[in-house]
Amino acid sequence: MASKEKTVWFCKNCGTESPKWMGRCPACGEWNTMVESTSVTGKAQAPSRAAAQAPGAPRRSPENLRNINFAAENRRSLGNGELDRLLGGGIVEGSLVLLGGEPGIGKSTLSLQIPLGCPNLKTLYVTGEESLRQVKMRAQRIGGDDSNCYIYSETLVENIIAEARRMMPELMVVDSVQTMFSENVDSSPGSVTQIKETAASLLRLAKETGIPIILIGHITKEGTLAGPKILEHIVDVVLQFEGDNSGSYRLVRSIKNRFGSTSELAVYEMTGKGLREVANPSEMLIPMHDQGLSGVAVAAMLDGARPFLIEVQSLVSSAAYPTPQRSATGFDVRRLNMLLAVLEKRAGFRLGVKDVFLNMAGGLRVTEPGCDLAVVSAVLSSNFDFPIPSDVCFVGEVGLSGEIRPVAQTDRRVTEAARLGFRKIYVSSYSSLENMPKGIEVVKVSDIPALCRSLFRNND
Ligand code: TYD
Ligand code: MG
Repeated sequence: MASKEKTVWFCKNCGTESPKWMGRCPACGEWNTMVESTSVTGKAQAPSRAAAQAPGAPRRSPENLRNINFAAENRRSLGNGELDRLLGGGIVEGSLVLLGGEPGIGKSTLSLQIPLGCPNLKTLYVTGEESLRQVKMRAQRIGGDDSNCYIYSETLVENIIAEARRMMPELMVVDSVQTMFSENVDSSPGSVTQIKETAASLLRLAKETGIPIILIGHITKEGTLAGPKILEHIVDVVLQFEGDNSGSYRLVRSIKNRFGSTSELAVYEMTGKGLREVANPSEMLIPMHDQGLSGVAVAAMLDGARPFLIEVQSLVSSAAYPTPQRSATGFDVRRLNMLLAVLEKRAGFRLGVKDVFLNMAGGLRVTEPGCDLAVVSAVLSSNFDFPIPSDVCFVGEVGLSGEIRPVAQTDRRVTEAARLGFRKIYVSSYSSLENMPKGIEVVKVSDIPALCRSLFRNND
């Protein structure tokens, strides 16, 4: 069969393929995300298909679940406590890990720090973005070049795979998926077809050889670059860099993990010598000031398995325009609007004529409802210019009728707050708490009016 080029359209958000352009992707519902690409059918695609089946591999047949031998997966420590924990106790052999994030956030730095931190780990670091000299300079900046790391400047996937099979490293890093290309696909590097082909080839390599691979992928703020989003279902683990490029803190979140729990969080600080692990994230997220400032409340959060405390800052001022402004950094603005509506309707606070700004400390994005109580308290504190003492913290979800609802693992959060020296914590009166630590007063509140009574009376 002769090879034939065919134009297809891909959604750059979810990767859905379509024979024609559409304004809205039928799978994910996003508008204006279809991009044109060429796909080759027939002969030219044959090598890629053949690669799916390793040469000489026996034909497989279905196996009864009962007869499958189970052995715990082999894990390798990466010599980086935060990253090991994020992966569920080290990287699993033969896994493909996607490390995504905006350009300049620290993906290459983190990946290069791994082999430098483990001098015995035989690593193949494939760079398609930087020259060998640049990598060497970076290595020297972040702690020398004493490692068993081989830098390979190459962008052709077939060459990379051949080299990996020859060298059999214990870890492989590919920086980045957007710069790699395969000769089997007739489109430019960075296109959806190339990215998918590259990821699929590397996945086969990982599964056949057992080499764990860290694949770096860029995403832009607008998500305009085709990339990581469409790879999420192909890879085993998705780690995502978050945080403000201009600030020094960086967060790595696990979004998907076939070998461990998700919603784990690793915290780093970008220093002049690379990324420093922050084992106790509360150190950066809670107030540095002693006397209470108005508009500040501390929330006892839980991210994955680890409790930590974060400062919520709010500013409430008279609206400058007829339509008040609501803006939130690190928090869902719709949820903020909902909480303000609850305060207005259920507790009679007239916030409809106020501008409300909300900010989570440290550039963290909070999605957990357990933060609601602290948000409400910070807003009230700013509205009445009434400081909340800095040794008080909050945990609880606020419901639509103004009730304070309990959240998961409240007792662990209380324990963490006590450990960090907090003297008082507000929780839902519906929480069941056992074995409370000494030294912290647990105040149970059932609704917003009860919270206000307790907060304002105690501070009078
Ligand atoms: P980089 O790892 O190149 O980002 P990515 O691979 O995600 O695009 O990170 C580059 C940024 O980090 C750059 O702005 C400089 C900064 N940086 C430091 O602050 N200290 C360091 O030791 C290094 C290596 C980088
Ligand atoms: Mg980079």
